[in-house]
Amino acid sequence: MPTPPMTADVDLYRDPAVFEAERAAIFARSWQFLGLEADLVRPGDYLAEVLAGYPVMVVRDEARGLKGYHNVCRHRAGPLVGEAKGRCDGEFVCRFHAWRYGFDGRLREATGFGPVDGFDPDGFGLFPIRVETWRGFVFVNLDPDAGALAEALAPLDARLGDQPRRTARVRDSHPVACNWKVYVENYLDGYHDEGIHPALAAEAGAQRHEVHVEGEVALFEASNPQGAADTLWAWLWPNIGLSVYRGVLLLEHMRPQGPDRTVIDHLFLHEPEDPSVDAAILNAERIFEEDAWINERVQQNLDAGVFQHGVLSPTHEGALFWFHGRVAQALRA
Ligand code: FES
Ligand SMILES: [Fe+2]
Repeated sequence: MPTPPMTADVDLYRDPAVFEAERAAIFARSWQFLGLEADLVRPGDYLAEVLAGYPVMVVRDEARGLKGYHNVCRHRAGPLVGEAKGRCDGEFVCRFHAWRYGFDGRLREATGFGPVDGFDPDGFGLFPIRVETWRGFVFVNLDPDAGALAEALAPLDARLGDQPRRTARVRDSHPVACNWKVYVENYLDGYHDEGIHPALAAEAGAQRHEVHVEGEVALFEASNPQGAADTLWAWLWPNIGLSVYRGVLLLEHMRPQGPDRTVIDHLFLHEPEDPSVDAAILNAERIFEEDAWINERVQQNLDAGVFQHGVLSPTHEGALFWFHGRVAQALRA
Protein backbone atom coordinates (compact mmCIF):
# COMPACT_ATOMS: atom_id res chain seq x y z
CA MET A 1 0.00 0.00 0.00
CA PRO A 2 1.45 3.43 -0.89
CA THR A 3 2.33 5.75 1.99
CA PRO A 4 1.71 9.49 1.92
CA PRO A 5 4.65 11.92 1.93
CA MET A 6 5.70 12.62 5.51
CA THR A 7 6.90 15.80 7.22
CA ALA A 8 10.60 16.16 8.08
CA ASP A 9 12.15 14.85 11.27
CA VAL A 10 11.23 17.08 14.21
CA ASP A 11 14.85 17.32 15.40
CA LEU A 12 15.68 19.28 12.25
CA TYR A 13 13.72 22.18 13.74
CA ARG A 14 15.29 22.31 17.19
CA ASP A 15 18.68 20.61 17.37
CA PRO A 16 21.60 23.10 17.73
CA ALA A 17 23.91 20.61 15.96
CA VAL A 18 21.60 20.57 12.93
CA PHE A 19 21.56 24.37 12.92
CA GLU A 20 25.38 24.46 12.91
CA ALA A 21 25.49 21.91 10.09
CA GLU A 22 22.99 23.99 8.09
CA ARG A 23 25.10 27.15 8.46
CA ALA A 24 27.99 25.43 6.70
CA ALA A 25 26.08 23.18 4.29
CA ILE A 26 23.30 25.58 3.26
CA PHE A 27 23.98 29.21 4.12
CA ALA A 28 27.70 29.20 3.34
CA ARG A 29 26.91 27.67 -0.06
CA SER A 30 23.92 29.60 -1.37
CA TRP A 31 23.26 33.10 -2.68
CA GLN A 32 22.30 35.45 0.11
CA PHE A 33 20.83 38.90 -0.32
CA LEU A 34 23.01 41.69 1.03
CA GLY A 35 21.54 45.00 -0.14
CA LEU A 36 20.97 47.35 -3.03
CA GLU A 37 23.50 48.37 -5.64
CA ALA A 38 22.07 51.90 -5.31
CA ASP A 39 23.89 52.09 -1.95
CA LEU A 40 27.25 51.27 -3.55
CA VAL A 41 27.77 54.18 -5.89
CA ARG A 42 31.15 55.73 -5.06
CA PRO A 43 34.46 53.90 -4.60
CA GLY A 44 34.70 53.01 -0.92
CA ASP A 45 30.93 52.68 -0.37
CA TYR A 46 30.31 49.46 1.51
CA LEU A 47 27.51 47.27 2.84
CA ALA A 48 28.00 44.82 5.69
CA GLU A 49 25.78 42.23 7.33
CA VAL A 50 25.95 39.13 9.46
CA LEU A 51 24.41 36.31 7.39
CA ALA A 52 23.69 33.09 9.29
CA GLY A 53 26.50 33.99 11.68
CA TYR A 54 29.00 34.99 8.97
CA PRO A 55 29.98 38.69 9.08
CA VAL A 56 30.48 39.79 5.46
CA MET A 57 30.97 43.03 3.54
CA VAL A 58 30.93 44.28 -0.04
CA VAL A 59 32.74 47.37 -1.28
CA ARG A 60 32.74 49.37 -4.52
CA ASP A 61 36.39 49.44 -5.58
CA GLU A 62 38.38 52.03 -7.54
CA ALA A 63 37.73 50.21 -10.83
CA ARG A 64 33.94 50.44 -10.13
CA GLY A 65 33.68 46.73 -9.52
CA LEU A 66 32.25 45.09 -6.42
CA LYS A 67 34.48 43.11 -4.08
CA GLY A 68 33.30 40.96 -1.21
CA TYR A 69 35.13 39.75 1.89
CA HIS A 70 34.52 38.23 5.26
CA ASN A 71 34.49 41.18 7.67
CA VAL A 72 37.32 39.65 9.67
CA CYS A 73 40.88 40.89 10.06
CA ARG A 74 43.72 38.41 9.62
CA HIS A 75 45.53 39.68 12.72
CA ARG A 76 43.15 38.75 15.55
CA ALA A 77 39.71 38.64 13.94
CA GLY A 78 38.72 42.27 14.42
CA PRO A 79 36.09 43.83 12.13
CA LEU A 80 37.18 45.91 9.14
CA VAL A 81 33.93 47.88 9.06
CA GLY A 82 31.66 48.50 12.02
CA GLU A 83 28.41 49.68 10.46
CA ALA A 84 25.87 48.09 8.13
CA LYS A 85 26.50 50.76 5.52
CA GLY A 86 29.15 53.43 5.07
CA ARG A 87 32.21 54.58 3.20
CA CYS A 88 35.91 53.77 3.54
CA ASP A 89 38.48 56.23 2.32
CA GLY A 90 40.51 54.22 -0.20
CA GLU A 91 41.18 51.25 2.10
CA PHE A 92 39.90 49.19 4.98
CA VAL A 93 41.41 50.03 8.37
CA CYS A 94 40.78 47.36 10.99
CA ARG A 95 38.85 48.72 13.97
CA PHE A 96 41.04 46.82 16.45
CA HIS A 97 44.74 47.62 15.75
CA ALA A 98 44.42 49.52 12.48
CA TRP A 99 45.92 47.06 10.01
CA ARG A 100 45.30 48.49 6.52
CA TYR A 101 43.94 46.50 3.58
CA GLY A 102 43.33 47.54 -0.04
CA PHE A 103 39.94 46.95 -1.64
CA ASP A 104 41.69 44.13 -3.50
CA GLY A 105 42.00 42.40 -0.12
CA ARG A 106 45.80 42.73 0.14
CA LEU A 107 47.33 43.61 3.49
CA ARG A 108 49.04 46.95 2.84
CA GLU A 109 50.40 47.58 6.27
CA ALA A 110 50.42 45.79 9.61
CA THR A 111 50.30 49.17 11.33
CA GLY A 112 52.83 49.54 14.17
CA PHE A 113 53.27 45.76 14.41
CA GLY A 114 57.03 45.93 14.87
CA PRO A 115 59.65 43.74 13.27
CA VAL A 116 59.00 39.99 13.17
CA ASP A 117 61.02 37.34 11.39
CA GLY A 118 59.22 35.31 8.77
CA PHE A 119 56.03 37.42 8.63
CA ASP A 120 54.92 37.76 5.01
CA PRO A 121 52.02 40.25 4.61
CA ASP A 122 51.11 38.59 1.29
CA GLY A 123 49.95 35.56 3.24
CA PHE A 124 47.50 37.67 5.28
CA GLY A 125 45.02 39.07 2.76
CA LEU A 126 41.29 39.27 3.50
CA PHE A 127 39.19 36.16 2.94
CA PRO A 128 37.29 36.76 -0.33
CA ILE A 129 33.65 35.91 -1.01
CA ARG A 130 31.62 35.97 -4.25
CA VAL A 131 29.50 39.02 -5.17
CA GLU A 132 26.99 39.19 -8.01
CA THR A 133 24.08 41.48 -8.78
CA TRP A 134 20.66 40.92 -10.25
CA ARG A 135 18.22 43.72 -11.12
CA GLY A 136 20.02 46.07 -8.71
CA PHE A 137 20.10 43.57 -5.83
CA VAL A 138 23.50 42.62 -4.42
CA PHE A 139 23.98 39.00 -3.45
CA VAL A 140 26.95 37.23 -1.87
CA ASN A 141 27.99 33.61 -1.74
CA LEU A 142 30.71 32.21 0.52
CA ASP A 143 31.24 29.25 -1.81
CA PRO A 144 33.87 29.95 -4.49
CA ASP A 145 32.47 27.05 -6.56
CA ALA A 146 28.80 28.09 -6.46
CA GLY A 147 26.92 28.41 -9.76
CA ALA A 148 26.16 31.89 -11.10
CA LEU A 149 23.43 33.95 -9.43
CA ALA A 150 21.78 34.62 -12.79
CA GLU A 151 21.49 30.87 -13.33
CA ALA A 152 19.79 30.39 -9.96
CA LEU A 153 17.34 33.20 -10.70
CA ALA A 154 16.65 32.36 -14.36
CA PRO A 155 13.16 30.86 -13.72
CA LEU A 156 12.13 33.96 -11.79
CA ASP A 157 13.69 36.31 -14.32
CA ALA A 158 11.61 34.77 -17.09
CA ARG A 159 8.43 35.28 -15.08
CA LEU A 160 9.20 38.84 -13.99
CA GLY A 161 9.86 40.19 -17.48
CA ASP A 162 10.18 43.96 -17.67
CA GLN A 163 9.44 45.73 -14.43
CA PRO A 164 8.96 49.43 -13.68
CA ARG A 165 11.88 51.28 -12.10
CA ARG A 166 11.17 51.18 -8.40
CA THR A 167 13.56 53.63 -6.79
CA ALA A 168 11.76 54.27 -3.49
CA ARG A 169 12.15 51.85 -0.61
CA VAL A 170 10.88 50.93 2.83
CA ARG A 171 12.84 48.50 5.02
CA ASP A 172 12.01 46.82 8.27
CA SER A 173 13.05 43.80 10.25
CA HIS A 174 11.11 41.44 12.50
CA PRO A 175 12.33 38.74 14.90
CA VAL A 176 10.22 35.56 14.82
CA ALA A 177 10.64 32.81 17.41
CA CYS A 178 10.81 29.85 15.04
CA ASN A 179 13.30 27.81 13.05
CA TRP A 180 14.02 29.29 9.62
CA LYS A 181 12.55 26.16 7.97
CA VAL A 182 9.22 26.64 9.73
CA TYR A 183 9.08 30.10 8.19
CA VAL A 184 10.14 28.87 4.73
CA GLU A 185 7.62 26.04 4.80
CA ASN A 186 4.87 28.47 5.64
CA TYR A 187 5.97 30.62 2.70
CA LEU A 188 5.94 27.61 0.36
CA ASP A 189 2.49 26.54 1.50
CA GLY A 190 -0.51 27.97 -0.33
CA TYR A 191 -2.78 25.69 1.66
CA HIS A 192 -3.11 27.82 4.79
CA ASP A 193 -4.53 31.01 3.30
CA GLU A 194 -8.15 30.44 4.31
CA GLY A 195 -7.19 29.58 7.88
CA ILE A 196 -4.55 32.22 8.51
CA HIS A 197 -5.22 34.97 5.99
CA PRO A 198 -9.00 35.29 5.62
CA ALA A 199 -8.79 38.74 4.02
CA LEU A 200 -6.25 37.54 1.48
CA ALA A 201 -8.23 34.41 0.70
CA ALA A 202 -11.37 36.50 0.13
CA GLU A 203 -9.62 38.74 -2.37
CA ALA A 204 -10.13 37.61 -5.96
CA GLY A 205 -6.91 36.73 -7.72
CA ALA A 206 -4.75 36.76 -4.65
CA GLN A 207 -4.77 33.05 -3.89
CA ARG A 208 -1.45 31.34 -4.43
CA HIS A 209 -2.59 27.77 -4.52
CA GLU A 210 -0.48 26.42 -7.34
CA VAL A 211 3.18 26.11 -6.51
CA HIS A 212 5.73 24.99 -9.10
CA VAL A 213 9.39 24.40 -8.42
CA GLU A 214 11.74 25.22 -11.32
CA GLY A 215 15.41 24.69 -10.60
CA GLU A 216 15.70 26.08 -7.09
CA VAL A 217 12.95 28.65 -7.44
CA ALA A 218 9.36 28.11 -6.31
CA LEU A 219 6.75 30.04 -8.26
CA PHE A 220 3.23 30.62 -7.04
CA GLU A 221 0.69 31.26 -9.70
CA ALA A 222 -2.28 33.47 -8.86
CA SER A 223 -5.54 31.74 -9.69
CA ASN A 224 -6.45 34.36 -12.30
CA PRO A 225 -3.14 35.77 -13.49
CA GLN A 226 -3.45 39.00 -15.41
CA GLY A 227 -0.37 39.22 -17.58
CA ALA A 228 3.29 38.74 -16.74
CA ALA A 229 4.14 39.15 -13.10
CA ASP A 230 1.38 41.60 -12.32
CA THR A 231 0.92 39.47 -9.27
CA LEU A 232 3.67 37.05 -8.37
CA TRP A 233 4.98 35.19 -5.38
CA ALA A 234 8.31 33.47 -5.70
CA TRP A 235 10.95 31.99 -3.47
CA LEU A 236 14.63 31.24 -4.02
CA TRP A 237 16.48 28.48 -2.23
CA PRO A 238 17.15 28.56 0.62
CA ASN A 239 15.57 31.64 2.24
CA ILE A 240 14.48 34.49 -0.02
CA GLY A 241 10.91 35.37 -0.87
CA LEU A 242 10.10 37.81 -3.65
CA SER A 243 6.64 39.07 -4.47
CA VAL A 244 5.08 41.70 -6.65
CA TYR A 245 1.68 42.70 -5.45
CA ARG A 246 -0.33 45.87 -6.11
CA GLY A 247 2.69 47.40 -7.81
CA VAL A 248 5.01 46.94 -4.82
CA LEU A 249 7.95 44.55 -4.95
CA LEU A 250 8.73 42.88 -1.64
CA LEU A 251 11.96 41.03 -1.04
CA GLU A 252 11.76 38.99 2.13
CA HIS A 253 15.02 37.60 3.55
CA MET A 254 14.48 34.88 6.17
CA ARG A 255 17.71 35.09 8.14
CA PRO A 256 18.45 32.28 10.58
CA GLN A 257 19.76 33.33 14.00
CA GLY A 258 19.55 30.07 15.95
CA PRO A 259 17.59 26.80 16.02
CA ASP A 260 14.43 28.62 17.12
CA ARG A 261 15.11 32.20 16.06
CA THR A 262 14.79 33.85 12.66
CA VAL A 263 14.84 37.47 11.60
CA ILE A 264 12.67 38.46 8.67
CA ASP A 265 13.99 41.45 6.73
CA HIS A 266 11.51 43.21 4.50
CA LEU A 267 12.57 45.40 1.63
CA PHE A 268 9.69 47.06 -0.20
CA LEU A 269 10.51 48.76 -3.49
CA HIS A 270 8.01 51.00 -5.22
CA GLU A 271 7.65 53.84 -7.68
CA PRO A 272 8.03 57.14 -5.81
CA GLU A 273 4.61 58.62 -6.52
CA ASP A 274 2.55 55.45 -6.34
CA PRO A 275 -0.52 56.30 -4.19
CA SER A 276 -1.34 52.65 -3.44
CA VAL A 277 1.96 51.99 -1.65
CA ASP A 278 0.87 52.56 1.93
CA ALA A 279 -2.09 50.22 1.60
CA ALA A 280 0.03 47.56 -0.13
CA ILE A 281 2.70 47.68 2.59
CA LEU A 282 0.14 47.58 5.40
CA ASN A 283 -1.45 44.58 3.71
CA ALA A 284 1.91 42.78 3.41
CA GLU A 285 2.71 43.54 7.06
CA ARG A 286 -0.64 42.14 8.14
CA ILE A 287 -0.01 38.93 6.20
CA PHE A 288 3.45 38.75 7.79
CA GLU A 289 1.99 39.16 11.33
CA GLU A 290 -0.52 36.39 10.64
CA ASP A 291 2.26 34.08 9.43
CA ALA A 292 4.59 34.99 12.31
CA TRP A 293 1.81 34.17 14.79
CA ILE A 294 1.19 30.68 13.39
CA ASN A 295 4.91 29.95 12.89
CA GLU A 296 5.75 30.71 16.54
CA ARG A 297 2.99 28.37 17.68
CA VAL A 298 4.11 25.61 15.33
CA GLN A 299 7.65 25.95 16.73
CA GLN A 300 6.32 25.66 20.30
CA ASN A 301 4.52 22.49 19.35
CA LEU A 302 7.60 21.04 17.61
CA ASP A 303 9.69 21.86 20.71
CA ALA A 304 7.14 20.19 22.99
CA GLY A 305 8.18 16.79 21.64
CA VAL A 306 4.69 15.28 21.31
CA PHE A 307 4.45 15.61 17.54
CA GLN A 308 6.85 13.39 15.60
CA HIS A 309 5.64 13.04 12.02
CA GLY A 310 2.75 14.42 10.04
CA VAL A 311 1.68 14.04 6.42
CA LEU A 312 1.93 16.37 3.44
CA SER A 313 -0.73 16.96 0.82
CA PRO A 314 0.60 16.04 -2.63
CA THR A 315 -1.90 18.58 -4.03
CA HIS A 316 -0.92 21.58 -1.91
CA GLU A 317 2.36 20.80 -0.19
CA GLY A 318 4.53 19.44 -2.98
CA ALA A 319 6.96 22.37 -2.64
CA LEU A 320 7.48 21.50 1.03
CA PHE A 321 8.30 17.93 0.06
CA TRP A 322 10.82 19.25 -2.47
CA PHE A 323 12.27 21.59 0.19
CA HIS A 324 12.73 18.76 2.70
CA GLY A 325 14.56 16.74 0.06
CA ARG A 326 16.77 19.70 -0.81
CA VAL A 327 17.68 20.29 2.86
CA ALA A 328 18.49 16.60 3.30
CA GLN A 329 20.63 16.63 0.15
CA ALA A 330 22.58 19.67 1.40
CA LEU A 331 23.18 18.09 4.80
CA ARG A 332 24.42 14.87 3.19
CA ALA A 333 26.84 16.64 0.83
S1 FES B 1 42.55 42.46 14.73
FE1 FES B 1 42.73 43.75 13.02
S2 FES B 1 44.51 44.84 13.39
FE2 FES B 1 44.36 43.55 15.11
FE1 LIG C 1 0.97 32.94 4.96
